[in-house]
Amino acid sequence: MITELFRQPKYILTITKLKHIYDALREPHHAIKVFKYHYRRVSEPAFIDFFSKQWGCSDRDIIQAYTGLTDNAPLWQEIKEKLSVYPSGYGLQMTRELPCLYLLIRLTQPDTVIETGVSSGASSTYILRSLHDNNRGRLYSIDLPPENLPEGKESGWIVPQYLRNRWSLHIGDSKELLEPLLDSVGEIDCFMHDSLHTYEHMLWEFRTVWKHLRSGGLLLSHDVGANDAFLDFMQEKCIPWSKYRVVHVLGGFIKPNDRKRD
Ligand SMILES: C[S@@+](CC[C@H](N)C(=O)[O-])C[C@H]1O[C@@H](n2cnc3c(N)ncnc32)[C@H](O)[C@@H]1O
Repeated sequence: MITELFRQPKYILTITKLKHIYDALREPHHAIKVFKYHYRRVSEPAFIDFFSKQWGCSDRDIIQAYTGLTDNAPLWQEIKEKLSVYPSGYGLQMTRELPCLYLLIRLTQPDTVIETGVSSGASSTYILRSLHDNNRGRLYSIDLPPENLPEGKESGWIVPQYLRNRWSLHIGDSKELLEPLLDSVGEIDCFMHDSLHTYEHMLWEFRTVWKHLRSGGLLLSHDVGANDAFLDFMQEKCIPWSKYRVVHVLGGFIKPNDRKRD
């Protein structure tokens, strides 16, 4: 592990600021988690490579996925222009991770995806376009509409009409809607959290989804560094932290094929 550490000098630098040393002395348990979070942050290609290897994707699959990403440039541009209505550009939207989201969905070819947290619909659009290009799968999204939507707009307003045939959008609190949705859908292939980023809520969503996520399925969370919920959940399920990666602030791991963790 020590040798591995020295291969990532950039991350060592980010975790050895004076403030981090001070925090580490104050809260050593939390500091270890912060270290784990930063240490597993990788570049976009490394993130995709990490998952595609585990799924046994061929070079052809990977090239096809990247080609799809490039071919969809006009749609990504359209989304960007629609989101420019927000004074700060993208507002609260997920941005840098979106291409990875498209690629992961292309590579894992899911039938059922659930996401919590839609807002204007950037992540939904990338997932839906990926499902469209796969020609299979359905996205179920839950959103409590945020206050900062442009006037007269609803959750998911930027999602193009032609992608909506694979989409079920449920409006309300995930605390109320997630369990009934999972019961009606059954087994799922991929879950992404991007709703309320409190420790309790995130942990609750991960726990609720877990028994419905198939072995080999993908658990993703945006803002994984917002608190310790994701890492604590991994610990609870005995998932070693070598099994997860973070790109920008999107973290994820593949559910192992092991009934003991259910
Ligand atoms: C960060 S935004 C989601 C951004 C979106 N994933 C994207 O890429 O554009 C979070 C969204 O979750 C919603 N939200 C907050 N609490 C929620 C809850 N308890 N249940 C469902 N949605 C919630 C917010 O109102 C907001 O629409």
